[in-house]
Amino acid sequence: MKISYFWTASTIITGRGSLARISDEVKNLGATKILVVTDPILSKSGLVERVREALVPAGLEVGLFSEVEPEPSLEIVMKCQQAIKESGCDLLIAVGGGSSIDVAKAASVLATNGGKIRDYIGVNLVPNPGIPVIAVPTTAGTGSEVTPIAILSDVDEEVKKGMVSSYLIPRVAIVDPELTVTMPPHITAATGMDALTHAVEAYISVNATTITDVLALEAIRLISRNLRTAVANGQDMEARSNMAMASLLAGIAFANAGVAAVHALAYPLGAQFHVPHGVANSVLLPYVMEFNLLGVLTKFKTMAMAMGERVEELSDRMAADKFIESIKQLATDVRVPLHMRELGVTAEAIPGMAESAIKITRLLANNPRRLTVDEIKEIYERAL
Ligand SMILES: [Fe+2]
Repeated sequence: MKISYFWTASTIITGRGSLARISDEVKNLGATKILVVTDPILSKSGLVERVREALVPAGLEVGLFSEVEPEPSLEIVMKCQQAIKESGCDLLIAVGGGSSIDVAKAASVLATNGGKIRDYIGVNLVPNPGIPVIAVPTTAGTGSEVTPIAILSDVDEEVKKGMVSSYLIPRVAIVDPELTVTMPPHITAATGMDALTHAVEAYISVNATTITDVLALEAIRLISRNLRTAVANGQDMEARSNMAMASLLAGIAFANAGVAAVHALAYPLGAQFHVPHGVANSVLLPYVMEFNLLGVLTKFKTMAMAMGERVEELSDRMAADKFIESIKQLATDVRVPLHMRELGVTAEAIPGMAESAIKITRLLANNPRRLTVDEIKEIYERAL
């Protein structure tokens, strides 16, 4: 067994109504001035008001930064840093999807370390811890509440960049499935497919460990049995609870084992065609897996079993095909496209996208099969 590390949030609180525990956690962290980081839609939804109502009676000062946008840019992080400075806060509470949580994480380390945001883009370039972050996800997919990563758009270069540091892991994650019930079906589907991609990529990652395998397989099992119901009936609390748990487990798994070629190939779809992250992953997942299965056939059989496929009697090779069929069926059922052309991607864009994807070595290094630019182009062509 090779040496491996396992990192996650110091405290993870799960369950229906767990948001009510937030004031205890704020007190445990010794904070007095809080800045809530969220997006404009959520800030008007009443949820931020609930957070405020939980904190103000405890004598805590609560400010609001509600300018987070989807696919957040480096500039938004700098704006958030400015808001931290002006408010003099000693704790951030990120409420929202991956965008709000990523902005809060990046701004928290920018606020304490100073300097320019571009200095910290990359792996382990943040010298000191940031202001503590409590992450409260309102979607079930990104896993950002437990990951050391913030994904930010560089608008000038039309690429997405990752800031990766253990200092980015939130101190506390509060995963309350009740906050996900208002998510519309298409976002439930996209974020759920993102969570599935996290679990699958973590499971076959070259950096997978026994700990991450257990988490990833349980996430695959839960998603295969609950995503359809959560999309069909958002009020179904059992499905919502299971999806929130699956997203968390997949997040913990990939925070440690990493994600790989699906995410690397998905980035150009987000940066150039503004395809939502979960949709971009979902559309590429079957085609990247067809490429990947050669080297890790037995793992594909295990994943097929986790998806509920009856493959015990099949050869590993046939079981691997069953797994890929199974993820295509799930995407079809929850109405996420199976082809990039449905998302506005054109054949002419493929060479440029492949050139962008091959540069994402941080993720490609985790993939169980090496890729050349030509192989990436072939995968995009199959996915077109
Ligand atoms: Fe993702």
